[in-house]
Amino acid sequence: MNETDIKFKTEIKTIKEGLVEIIIPEFEKVSSDAPVFYNPAMEFNRDISILALQQFQKELGKSIDICDLFGGSGIRAIRYKKELENVGEVSLNDISNQAIEFGKMNSENNKLSLNFHQKEANILLREFRGKFDVVDVDPFGTPSYFIDSLGYSIKKNTMICVTATDTSALCGTYIEPCIRKYNAKPNRTEYCHETGIRILIGFIALKIGKYKKYVEPKLSHSSQHYMKTYLKVHKSSKDTDKSLKENIGYIAHCNKCLYRTPVKGLTSTINDNCPECGEKLTIAGPLWIGRIQNQQFIEGMLHEIPFKNLKTSKKVLKLLTTCDEEANAMISFYDIHKISKVLKISAPKLSEVLETLKNKGFSVTRTHFSPLGIKTDCDINTLKKIVCNLSIDSNKI
Ligand SMILES: C[S@@+](CC[C@H](N)C(=O)[O-])C[C@H]1O[C@@H](n2cnc3c(N)ncnc32)[C@H](O)[C@@H]1O
Repeated sequence: MNETDIKFKTEIKTIKEGLVEIIIPEFEKVSSDAPVFYNPAMEFNRDISILALQQFQKELGKSIDICDLFGGSGIRAIRYKKELENVGEVSLNDISNQAIEFGKMNSENNKLSLNFHQKEANILLREFRGKFDVVDVDPFGTPSYFIDSLGYSIKKNTMICVTATDTSALCGTYIEPCIRKYNAKPNRTEYCHETGIRILIGFIALKIGKYKKYVEPKLSHSSQHYMKTYLKVHKSSKDTDKSLKENIGYIAHCNKCLYRTPVKGLTSTINDNCPECGEKLTIAGPLWIGRIQNQQFIEGMLHEIPFKNLKTSKKVLKLLTTCDEEANAMISFYDIHKISKVLKISAPKLSEVLETLKNKGFSVTRTHFSPLGIKTDCDINTLKKIVCNLSIDSNKI
């Protein structure tokens, strides 16, 4: 099918993103019902992927074969082929015939050669076992239906880039869908987006563990309506056991006094009651309690920004800088407004709390998960005292 055939059948529009230009059928609103799926709001997501894949390619030290498992308009795969250095074969898969037709036409118009597949994602993964160095998993809603095939199919040293848009399940707005899809209990706390992404990574780690494979998170972020994690996959039964033992666990949280603690181990005994106030603890998990960011990897991505032509580079810089800062910080974060609400006081300025914690020798960083969040090794009772003192001080002025 060429551009004239498509024009004849349907109204089309032109999209410019990164270094490419594509045409897609006109649609009224972004939805899974659109004839070919394209979401302009995900340009930011794709820009980050360009940096992540480039950094991964550099670390791997060889050219990379990429599979965009859910191609949609093809914009992602086409950009990978055009904008990445040292890229080998790029495969674009989509179950939709129309998506593949547009993908073929758009790659031709951009003078790029890609491999096209129109297969159900699980089938493609199983047929092409061990073929790819990078698999991008960007489905509608949950990626959970595809993780087992991914575990079976990927070879060691593959990077898997997994997007989830079912954030209401992962964040605990609804508990049952999360249990159904991720076999984990979410918890609707102030840090529920972090819990959600940890549930996603934990689910992937547990699912692929049976294939003696384990994950090393490189970058994880929650932005707009989705969560995305970039994981390097390794293979070894001994190291998979070790990784699961060290990195899978739970987060116990007290809704009354805001105490929280990670608990290591899939089958650990968890205290029923809060050690600080005696209230019943709520539990999230099983989930990933290990690191979800890799500072060296993120710094490599930051270094790449000036070399890529990204419209969203300011926003990307802000996100990556914050992810870099929080890479080694504690699990979960405190929200000063939430603490002030529990204490029934007016909230002090965030900058003053940060400054005071720093002056007292605590480690402290902001988090990309929330503009009001603070990650610190200060315990909740000391933090409450600091918040209280600062609130009284600010009221006096
Ligand atoms: C969210 S869109 C992909 C967006 C694309 N990655 C991007 O960055 O623009 C999901 C795509 O997956 C396709 N799809 C849905 N279920 C599928 C399946 N089981 N196997 C393969 N493709 C599928 C849809 O046709 C749709 O184009």
